[in-house]
Amino acid sequence: MSEYLLQMTGIDKRFGGVHALDHVNFAVRPGKVMCLAGENGCGKSTLVKIISGAYTRDEGEVLFEGKPIQHITPAESSALGIQVIYQDLSIFPNLTVMENLAINSEITAKRKIVNRKRWEQTAKEALSKIGYDIDLYARMGDLSVADKQLVAICRALLFNAKLIIMDEPTTALTKKEVDALFKTVRQLRDSGIAIMFISHKTEEIFEISDDVCIMRNGKNVYSGPTAELTRKDFTYYMTGRELEDDYFVPTNISKEPVLKVDHLTWNGKFHDVSFDLRKGEILGITGLLGSGRTELALALFGLGKVHSGTITLNGQQVKITSPIDAQKKRIGYVPEDRLTEGLCLRQPIADNIMLASLKQLTRALGTLNHDELFEKSNEWVKKFSIATDDAHKHASTLSGGNQQKIVLSKWLNNDLDVLILNGPTVGVESWAR
Ligand SMILES: Nc1ncnc2c1ncn2[C@@H]1O[C@H](COP(=O)(O)OP(=O)(O)OP(=O)(O)O)[C@@H](O)[C@H]1O
Ligand SMILES: [Mg+2]
Repeated sequence: MSEYLLQMTGIDKRFGGVHALDHVNFAVRPGKVMCLAGENGCGKSTLVKIISGAYTRDEGEVLFEGKPIQHITPAESSALGIQVIYQDLSIFPNLTVMENLAINSEITAKRKIVNRKRWEQTAKEALSKIGYDIDLYARMGDLSVADKQLVAICRALLFNAKLIIMDEPTTALTKKEVDALFKTVRQLRDSGIAIMFISHKTEEIFEISDDVCIMRNGKNVYSGPTAELTRKDFTYYMTGRELEDDYFVPTNISKEPVLKVDHLTWNGKFHDVSFDLRKGEILGITGLLGSGRTELALALFGLGKVHSGTITLNGQQVKITSPIDAQKKRIGYVPEDRLTEGLCLRQPIADNIMLASLKQLTRALGTLNHDELFEKSNEWVKKFSIATDDAHKHASTLSGGNQQKIVLSKWLNNDLDVLILNGPTVGVESWAR
């Protein structure tokens, strides 16, 4: 029997003109943590979707426990023991922990009558697998991301998982929560389960993984034990470049602040916030979840309430009443959740890029100049190397990092004085220049 639980050879997948996977080889050993790493758009999620049966491959072979697998459905992949924990965790926020844990097995068993006792038993059994303790009757939507994730892991374990795949599980976690998650991951590994862990974060990859597979532009460029790799090699494989330590050194900082915030207060959200921001400067604003950092950003973009305090822009005290008003005052805002707030996913990439510049493109009688729209948006596609062969395609066809490039382009196409970025690096490694 092969030493591998899952072995994939020559996997190829194209989406129209995009060669998402170019003859990729990939293998996972049982009882090991395998990290799948690579920059945005290199094909990680596509590979996972082929394993989980969500996509079919164009070419290549897959062996699971030594047996060849043809094209399978997600249900068949789950029955084999492959469980994927996606970033959104696929939970029902309005149901309880118990219901979330038991519902899949109830549906699979085609049961029609709810038996609370049985549900409770299933849920308890699931939690006991990793010795995790939580109120079975808590509403799932009220839990922290870390708790939601542990429930999702317990749910996966109910299905006799042999391979658990986690797609960037640490993005929304604090350091302490990451430590707790890693403890659980090690516990699962020691019980013989293979873990596939997708991550962008060098330190985490070195901490948790036994093996690593690094992808670049749809090809796998390194596969092997993590211990045999230096951090320098790792960066080289990820990016294809030798990277020196690269710090932003501000050079042209204005004397006068472009934005001055004094004693700003939104009752119940944030209180007495003051800072100066000069041209050419990057100001970091930090705080825990619920500390008011998002509300501060919203207030500066005309989406919040200001009960007291002042905002001064270029020496003039102003009130920012709406996002349109903020834009007129040359302020842009990249929101926290690009999928629901930053993008129109079912609209073309080009339209998304030009969304905040429609005035520039409007001609007589309010008509839009579509040629110019497309031409201008293509300049941004080139400038940021947005991974698409056609900007007419929907924004939903892009990987997370490439979608973020659209949101940024949308604002950079305007002549701004202040750009507010709310958690802009979630799921983003580095820009391929
Ligand atoms: N359904 C689709 N239709 C068209 N193109 C797609 C589709 N899914 C993925 N692609 C393209 O395939 C390439 C690989 O995308 P994938 O989502 O696998 O990247 P990723 O490595 O997961 O990136 P990220 O780190 O940003 O999540 C990208 O160029 C993407 O635009
Ligand atoms: Mg992805």
